[in-house]
Amino acid sequence: MRTIAVINAKGGCGKTTIATGLASAMAWEGYSVALADLDPQCSATDWLAEREEDYPEIVAVDTKKGVRAPAGTDVLIIDTPAGVYGKDLSKLLARAETALMPILPSPVDMAAAWRFLEQSLALKPIASKQTQLGLIANRVKPNTIVYRELSGFLDDYRVPVVGHLRDSMNYVRAFERGLGVSDLPEYLAGEDWAQWDEIVKWVKSKRSQGKK
Ligand SMILES: Nc1ncnc2c1ncn2[C@@H]1O[C@H](COP(=O)(O)OP(=O)(O)OP(=O)(O)O)[C@@H](O)[C@H]1O
Ligand SMILES: [Mg+2]
Repeated sequence: MRTIAVINAKGGCGKTTIATGLASAMAWEGYSVALADLDPQCSATDWLAEREEDYPEIVAVDTKKGVRAPAGTDVLIIDTPAGVYGKDLSKLLARAETALMPILPSPVDMAAAWRFLEQSLALKPIASKQTQLGLIANRVKPNTIVYRELSGFLDDYRVPVVGHLRDSMNYVRAFERGLGVSDLPEYLAGEDWAQWDEIVKWVKSKRSQGKK
């Protein structure tokens, strides 16, 4: 079973959007997907409660007694709350072979991301390469100065940038229906599908699992 955690101590950068979006994208790929919501705000749980049967199934993981995915799960995706650092983060990372970290192209978010990245890179699971970290530039508006700044900022790190997601109301609209952009029709979300293809490709790669 693959375990993928979505992390970033900064609130509102897109963790839940990416955890739920990845769950939907991987379910469309034919995997049996489970979603664990570790955030007491329960946004991912609320999202899943809205999801109708017409769409590929995503199983909710009961996290009251720790995170245990049901038998037969191919991909376990863990949505994490804001403000997770240090030991708690290390514990969480130790159980995931892949971690995705969204970053927003805004000066405040980049400053917070810089601190969080520095800390995460020093934690044992990532430092020892047990957990592979991939960055996702989220809410991207191409050709803006802040986006160019984000690109420059990300180039300074040896951590791969594994995806770019545009800023789109599709995310907001899909979310309230328990959907990811992969569940939306192509005429509305073709551009978003292509951006998710890039992320799915990395998540399926050996590199994202620390294998050569
Ligand atoms: N690519 C996007 N385009 C448009 N809106 C987005 C995008 N990504 C996230 N959002 C919106 O930004 C807000 C915050 O996103 P989200 O809840 O996923 O962040 P989070 O990191 O999980 O927040 P928290 O730290 O509070 O759990 C939401 O309203 C969401 O719909
Ligand atoms: Mg969240």
